[in-house]
Amino acid sequence: MSTRLSLDRILQSQGFGSRKYCRQLIDDGEVSIDGAVVTDYRASLDTAGLVLTVFGEEWVYRANVYIALNKPANFECSRKPSHHPGVLTLLPEQMSWRDVQPVGRLDHDTTGLLLMSDDGAFIHAQSSPRRHVPKLYEATTHDPVTPELIAHLLAGVQLHDEPAPLAAVTCRMLDAHRLEIVLEQGKYHQVKRMLAAAGNHCSALCRTAIGSLTLQALDLAEGEWCYLEPAQLALLVPAPAVA
Ligand code: URA
Repeated sequence: MSTRLSLDRILQSQGFGSRKYCRQLIDDGEVSIDGAVVTDYRASLDTAGLVLTVFGEEWVYRANVYIALNKPANFECSRKPSHHPGVLTLLPEQMSWRDVQPVGRLDHDTTGLLLMSDDGAFIHAQSSPRRHVPKLYEATTHDPVTPELIAHLLAGVQLHDEPAPLAAVTCRMLDAHRLEIVLEQGKYHQVKRMLAAAGNHCSALCRTAIGSLTLQALDLAEGEWCYLEPAQLALLVPAPAVA
């Protein structure tokens, strides 16, 4: 879709700072397009396919951003982190200015795939419990994984503040102390609480996929992030229920 905006508004929308600061950047000759410095902040530009150079670095215009982060341990997803740095500190500072937020939460000690975006409708849709987007986790357990544990998690375990038992969509043993579990609900500390309720203890947790989008395909080292393109976003849509 083609949208025309003034250069100062464009910079502000991309997270470069307040409108006043963006005008100053333009005035200072810090912004160029196609190799030519643009010093008129009123310059009206088509945002489709727009590539700016700001402080000598290329910046592709994006109306919204959709980000995948391979979250390391000891980062918090909350807006006001208290004990560890927030996950936003792993992204360029423009992302904080444009109000990028995590889609749902991972515990501070959980690693793996975390989506982040500044598109409120996307965040809402992805977080909605009605969407049933499967999320795949690899859990390391304190006590050995047994067939009984797997059966228990598949049959459903009762958590004390839930009206009904919660069951894994799929669950399988990976090795003596690791299992893979798929959940659709996204309740608070769900994997850890389900394992505890089933008589074991989760000592490490990694989210390895959301829908059909896998951490492996994204090939991100811990702490690395990337923009998600439409084909990757399409993988987040839950598969239609088989009639
Ligand atoms: N379940 C948990 O217990 N913790 C997470 O971070 C995610 C799912």
